[in-house]
Amino acid sequence: MKTTERLDKILAHAGFGSRREIKELVKKGLVLVNGKPAKDSGQQVDPGSDTIEADGQRVDYREFVYLMLHKPPGYVSATEDNRDRTVLELIGEEYAHYELFPVGRLDKDTEGLLLLTNDGKLAHRLLSPKKHVPKTYYAEVLGLVTEADREAFRRGVELDDGYLTLPAELTIEEAAEPESGHLSRIRLTIHEGKFHQVKRMFQSVGKQVMYLKRLSMGPLVLDEGLGLGEYRELTAEETEGLRTP
Ligand code: URA
Repeated sequence: MKTTERLDKILAHAGFGSRREIKELVKKGLVLVNGKPAKDSGQQVDPGSDTIEADGQRVDYREFVYLMLHKPPGYVSATEDNRDRTVLELIGEEYAHYELFPVGRLDKDTEGLLLLTNDGKLAHRLLSPKKHVPKTYYAEVLGLVTEADREAFRRGVELDDGYLTLPAELTIEEAAEPESGHLSRIRLTIHEGKFHQVKRMFQSVGKQVMYLKRLSMGPLVLDEGLGLGEYRELTAEETEGLRTP
């Protein structure tokens, strides 16, 4: 595996400007490699073992970043949008240069686990229809969710466009009662990610999802310590878990 990288690439990644601007910093002697001024912005350095400082700051080089966001309602899962606020607007400036994007989509009104990364390969793998990565949701559903629904979801239901869903696991945590506002509380694990899938699955059995929250995606579980709109980097273990097929 390649361990060295061009100095200007590392600094550009770390947010020190364009290659030209970095060249200027190097010229001014403001970039130090192992304590000595760098001679050439194109020189090879090993970010794993060389210490790099630029403009008086220690450079922490990472190619990929992985953030777990507790998505609040009211934000769209996109990097840009003309009308709505995007989940990227919740992320601090210090991550701006990593060009993060959401891995898959949660509806604007859905809450819960959303992974943001700039690792295209990993995102592609997690979203691949062939991988059937399980996603578990908590939902509050208007009406009485029954054993018959559980069985229907286990066998697969036909959505409004004629698509037959893959087997999904439904757990009824609390069946609707008049006292609970006729809401049933459930968990549902699906192994695919069609547009509005959970809402449309309930629609197919004549019920309406009133509240939806994603709890997990593959081995990644929402950290309940994160409030709505809060995020944190994944631990090394969590990232490794996602990489393992
Ligand atoms: N299913 C839905 O209906 N909406 C989501 O946001 C995610 C899954």
